[in-house]
Amino acid sequence: MTVTQNSKKDHWSSKAYNTSASFVPKLATTVYSYLDPQPTDSILDIGCGDGPLTAQIAGAVSSGRVLGLDASPSMIQTAQKDYAPSKHPNLIFQVADCTKLSKEVPEVLDGSFDKVFSNAAYHWILRNPETRKDVFSDAFKALKPGGSLVFEMGGAGNVAEVRSTIIAALAMHGVLLDEARKADPWFFPSEKWISAMLEDVGFQVERVELEYRPTRLTDHDEGGLEGWVRLFGAQLLETVSELTRAEVVRWVVEVLRSSCQREEDGSWWIGYVRLRAVAKKPQH
Ligand SMILES: C[S@@+](CC[C@H](N)C(=O)[O-])C[C@H]1O[C@@H](n2cnc3c(N)ncnc32)[C@H](O)[C@@H]1O
Repeated sequence: MTVTQNSKKDHWSSKAYNTSASFVPKLATTVYSYLDPQPTDSILDIGCGDGPLTAQIAGAVSSGRVLGLDASPSMIQTAQKDYAPSKHPNLIFQVADCTKLSKEVPEVLDGSFDKVFSNAAYHWILRNPETRKDVFSDAFKALKPGGSLVFEMGGAGNVAEVRSTIIAALAMHGVLLDEARKADPWFFPSEKWISAMLEDVGFQVERVELEYRPTRLTDHDEGGLEGWVRLFGAQLLETVSELTRAEVVRWVVEVLRSSCQREEDGSWWIGYVRLRAVAKKPQH
């Protein structure tokens, strides 16, 4: 975990992400097929993380360009190192908080992108109710008329067993429920909510789908459930001291053993629910 220049805490570590969650970009084949990148496309990737998926998109866009934005300096530094301009001349990575694009990178909102893409990031980016609409109206502004917003995120019911168990564990260790809920970093909307929001900012919704997709975690020595909880639940865990945190994590893993570990082979699975959407900016 690192601290950014403006002292805002970076809850992401590209190293921990790579160890405990490298399956996230690898499971994006459906949303990637909806993106259907064309050789001349200009594509903006919102919450691009450490960049493997962004680089895959850039590889399909031989005469276009791809810009990856992410709020985490750790993620962007790794992306810039792994996908250097010498080998990926049409790919740029930049640190930006995607709840404030008009402040941080106003030039992106110039209506020059054919597609705006996002995988596994909007459920973090949309946490604050006050900036939710801006996030989608910014995607709308970034697109050319006729351009598309294509994304996948956690949908209603995503990782419900882990989310509830972490909150219960914190409550067991003296954190008030309200305080724990305030630290909950996610927003997992329904198909109905997302369709209404997209239409509200002017998009024509072409596709919205929710998929229950149980997902196998990495093995224990590669992070496993403990690594997942420590990385993705970092903000929740910060409501207790470091000493208590170790106990909370141990408790969460032990409680979830009953529902998440398969007796047949010892593998660990959690209930991912993915929400995918494709929405078009009208021509006129
Ligand atoms: C689970 S990772 C997904 C990364 C990548 N899209 C992938 O498929 O591997 C979520 C990413 O969202 C980023 N993120 C969270 N809040 C953000 C914000 N407000 N603005 C930009 N990025 C944000 C995190 O830094 C993290 O890299």
